[in-house]
Formats: sequence, structure tokens, C-alpha cells
Amino acid sequence: MSGRSRFGEARHEGFRALNDSISFDWRLSPYDVDQSIAHAEMLAAQGIIPAQDGERLRRGLEQVRRELGEGSFPFADGDEDIHMAIERRLTEIVGPVGGRLHTARSRNDQVATDVAMFVRAHAQDAVERIRRLATTLADQAERHLDWPMPGYTHMQRAQPVYLGHHLLAYVWMLLRDRARFAAVAEAAGTMPLGAGALAGVNFDTDRRAVAAALGFSAVAENSIDAVSNRDFVLDYLAAAATCATHLSRLGAEIVLWSTEEYGFCEVSDAWASGSSIMPQKKNPDAAELLRAKAPRLVGNLTALYGVMHGLPLTYNKDMQEDKEPLFDSCDTLELCLDAADGMLQTIRFSRERLAAAAADQFLAATDVADLLVRRGMPFREAHGIVAGLVRRALADGRRLSDLTREDLAAQSELLDDEFYRLLGDGAWLESKVSEGGTSVARVREQLARARAALA
Ligand code: ARG
Repeated sequence: MSGRSRFGEARHEGFRALNDSISFDWRLSPYDVDQSIAHAEMLAAQGIIPAQDGERLRRGLEQVRRELGEGSFPFADGDEDIHMAIERRLTEIVGPVGGRLHTARSRNDQVATDVAMFVRAHAQDAVERIRRLATTLADQAERHLDWPMPGYTHMQRAQPVYLGHHLLAYVWMLLRDRARFAAVAEAAGTMPLGAGALAGVNFDTDRRAVAAALGFSAVAENSIDAVSNRDFVLDYLAAAATCATHLSRLGAEIVLWSTEEYGFCEVSDAWASGSSIMPQKKNPDAAELLRAKAPRLVGNLTALYGVMHGLPLTYNKDMQEDKEPLFDSCDTLELCLDAADGMLQTIRFSRERLAAAAADQFLAATDVADLLVRRGMPFREAHGIVAGLVRRALADGRRLSDLTREDLAAQSELLDDEFYRLLGDGAWLESKVSEGGTSVARVREQLARARAALA
């Protein structure tokens, strides 16, 4: 509204199409109304506007809130952004007193405050959705706590682990995500409002009262920083990009594990689709989309870094470009967290297929090496001996346990029947006794810690 009267000419259609933000920033409306009510009440309490005007503004804004909620809010052609739309409508409702609302406020501190409130709400929302998904994963980990499966490095079978252990890995990733979003909520907990356009305002406002009414824990110390700052948006976008990256790895594993080749799991019909041409197919689309969404969130983060870098203080219209990446990341992340939760609640694992893959004796190679280490051989040397055994077995298509005593003796005289015992009972899983390792006792301990962290 600043000085449109300066202009004799109507704004060019092309300018409006580029400049207007109402098509997306309407999503800030609940925060804008809350903010305006708190601001009006403060103006009245401070005697900056008459008390009855404060009351009229509040009632008018309540009506605006109702209209927005019911979808009856009449957007007008000239509404540039949500802030101007609300003030315009308020003035239609309460008359010229509506023009008092913008006393001691600029759209610069107003928009920063709306966005901070939006980010805080959605960061708290992410904390809750992540808790739900992590709980589902912990439940599945508990259910499959001691189901052996191969663990992979380089996508090659490496060492066996329990499925419970593998699923818990995602719980810890999500717990870190949750901590990141909690930090985002805190970063968005400092109120810009009261900074005015950039230098402060010409009235004795009570910023702390407004902050308390709006649930902010602090007020921005510096009016220039207050209107220039979008760190909290970057923080949200960064946390969302990292969380989506975690979900993409989860999705990728479910896609792989759902293949005929792996056969480790099957997603429920509710989270899969069929093929329009191949009746036998069941595609894990949800998992594939979890895999694919992450780069889009990274793109949103990169886009806002691009906007903010090198941007002179204070407010620049460039910063209007914070909103679409933010909204898109919120929508996408919330969708993905819920989809991951739904899919994981109903996924079924195949104990047989997992166990068959985990029974690959070559997965015990490290354990055989450690057997030699316990008998006094340096690990590096033991590694070489076992490599020789593996080469020997592979050369004629045998399993390690098919090697003869002579084969063993040819590599080291330290190898005796213990070698066959070790391969026989799959004890190599239970031998991972170190803290954070895959033995059942350690996984139980870990699960209890994860549960405690989630509670
Ligand atoms: N729609 C604008 C934005 O999102 C609101 C702030 C406009 N401020 C200004 N000085 N033109 O950034």
C-alpha cells in the first residue's frame, strides 16, 4: 500500500503477474490475522490508537478469519498479496478505522513475522510426524528384531545383521531429523514484528507483549536484521532436505527389497499400484516416490540460497521468493512422512528370503578372520588367510564349510574344527556383541534407548 498514490499510471498486467504474490501467500492468512489482532490489541493497550478502535479492529479481523475459514472471503482483483487483501477487506468491514491497523508496522516486518509463524508451526508439525514414523519403524524393528538378513556394503553382501537392527538405523536418522526440526522451531521463535520497514517505528510499542500473544519466545534485537533475516526458512528447507534424503534411502531399499530378485518384503496393496498392461505386477510406487522426492527438496533449499546470497540489507522484493520453495517443501515432506508411515505400518517381510540370503557363508568371512585373531594372529594376516580360503572355495563352487581339513591346513595350522562350528550355527550374528552391534542383546538395548528417545 506504500505510496500507490504516487503513481498516475495503472500497473502493467505483466508487472502484476510477476509482482503479485497473492496466488501463493494466501497460505499465510491465519498467521496474518493472528498477528494483526495481537498488533491491534497492543496498539490499543499502549494508547497508540483509541481502545474502541482496537476493539473494532479485533472484531473485524475475527470476521475476516471466519470468511477465510469458510472460503467466503472475497478476494479482489487488485489484491497484491495477502497482507493487502486482509487490510482491504478489514476496511470494507469496519470502515476507515481499518486504516489504523498498519500503524507502527510495515509489510516488511509483517511478512517476516507471518513466515516465521508458518515455519514454527510446520517445524512443530514435522516433529510430530517424524515421531509417528519413527515409532512405526521401532514397532517393526521390535517385531523383526531377530530376523537375520544380509547387511550390505557397495551393495554386496557383507555381514549378516538382524532386520530389527537395520530398521532401527532409520529410527536414529529420524531422531536426528526431529532434533533438527526442533531447532528450526526455535530459530523461528524470535519475532521480527516491531522492526517497521527497517529502522524501528515512531511509537512506543510493546513488542514483548505481542511476542507473548503470538507464542514467540524472543523479539529480534536488531530491526535491520529482523526484516532481512530468512535464516529460519533456510533452516526449515535444510532440515526438510536432509529428512527427505533419509526417506529416499528408505524408499530405495523398499524398492529393491520388493523385487523378485530380493524378495525381502512386499508392500500392501493400499500402497502399491498395478500395471496397466502386465497383470502380474505390483509396483511399489510410494517407495519409488519417496526415493524421487528428495532432490526436489534439495532444489528448494538451493533456490533460496540463490535468492539470499549476496542480497544487500534489508528487505528486497527478492525475498518474496522464499515462499513457494517453503510451501512446496512443507507439502512434500508432510506427504512423504505420512506415506512412509502408512507404507511401513502394513509392509510384510519374508523371513525365509531374508534368512536364505543371510545364510550365505561368505558373510562369515570376517568372523573366521577373527577366529584366527583370537588365536594370536594379527588381523591383517588373518584377512589374507581367509581371502585364500574364499578364493579356494569360489574356484570350485564350494561353500566355506565344504572346504576340507587339508584345504584349511594349507592356509593355516591355526584352523581346526572351530571353523566348521562357526559356520554351522550362524553364530556369526550373535558374535557382534559390541555396543551398537547386531547381537540380539545389543539390539534390544538399542531398541529400549530408541523408545526412550521417542517418548
Ligand atoms: N508480498 C511481499 C513479500 O512476500 C510482502 C512484503 C512487501 N514489502 C514491500 N516493501 N514491498 O515479500
